[in-house]
Amino acid sequence: MITNARALETTYVPQDLEHRDGQISQLATALEPLTQGVGGEHSLIFGPSGSGKTTLAKYVVRKLREESFGVRRAYWNCMSGSSKTEVLHGLAQDSGIGNHLSRDGTATSTFIDEFRETDDHIVAILDEVDALEDETLLLGLGDLPNVTIVAITIDEDDFFANHRLNGRVRSRFSSAETLRLRKFANDELIDILLARIDAGLRPGVIGMDAIEYIADLAAGDARKAIKLLGKSTRRVDRSDRSQITLEDIDAVHDEARQDLRQDHINSLGTHKRLLYDIVSDAEEIGVTELHATYEERAADPKPNRTRRRYLSALVDKYGLLESTGAGRGKNYFVPEP
Ligand SMILES: Nc1ncnc2c1ncn2[C@@H]1O[C@H](COP(=O)(O)OP(=O)(O)OP(=O)(O)O)[C@@H](O)[C@H]1O
Ligand SMILES: [Mg+2]
Repeated sequence: MITNARALETTYVPQDLEHRDGQISQLATALEPLTQGVGGEHSLIFGPSGSGKTTLAKYVVRKLREESFGVRRAYWNCMSGSSKTEVLHGLAQDSGIGNHLSRDGTATSTFIDEFRETDDHIVAILDEVDALEDETLLLGLGDLPNVTIVAITIDEDDFFANHRLNGRVRSRFSSAETLRLRKFANDELIDILLARIDAGLRPGVIGMDAIEYIADLAAGDARKAIKLLGKSTRRVDRSDRSQITLEDIDAVHDEARQDLRQDHINSLGTHKRLLYDIVSDAEEIGVTELHATYEERAADPKPNRTRRRYLSALVDKYGLLESTGAGRGKNYFVPEP
């Protein structure tokens, strides 16, 4: 019943995007100068989880690369590594420029020099940019004439209200091209699902009632919708039935939620992952003990203020942890499923 398993994966960038024409042309226009060999406009993409930020950025850059020579994509998710060298190394790996440089022991200026010296133009997609340890990297990269930045994060106010945000970064990016994505409406999610069904399933496997039910449960989050579709399809595929029912969708709902959570955990970089694991192993842990355990287990511990940022991102932004109390009386725990 499955004709193309890839189409049911959440990481798949579809051939065509649904209901984002306005934003696609907005970003394409900002990057358009690259086709003439000059710098584009730095851009910011905001929107809730599952609204298609990452997909939109990758899609527009892919199109641009199909249409013109000398444009490179450099993608990095700052949650997976947020120090300057981790980010630069990630960008080098994805773009192929400076990809011979090792992550450990290469000066940040060496990476920057590699980028400056290439004849190509680089679109640097910095996903989950709020996780960056040092936002001045946005200046170091963004000031290069042949680098255009597309920075992605969930919350606009949060990004600009960040009291630590360097003044020059703030003013540089307050005039950036800004894309604001909203949660998908119910009928938009249905169109997204229909396109995946068309691309990935034999006709007749799923009826309109089941598609509407998935869209309802996903509540505007396209990743959740696709996950539910993929899981319920595989459930039916394993049975001797040939149609997805509402019960199939209910049966995979909890597992789909856990899966999405696990995907998120898997994307954490070393230090955030370590903090998460310490809390998860202990079930509940006081902040003092958490820091002590971290210092014991980390090869090269981050300073206190960095850890505090990581922890607050794990709690507030990603909902992977919860906390009670304040100051030294603060406790962290993993929320009930
Ligand atoms: N316009 C679209 N048309 C069709 N599918 C889409 C569209 N936008 C996103 N998707 C699909 O929805 C899923 C979620 O999109 P994406 O990962 O880009 O969301 P996001 O906003 O980056 O979320 P997060 O903040 O959690 O990273 C992906 O599987 C993607 O393929
Ligand atoms: Mg994303």
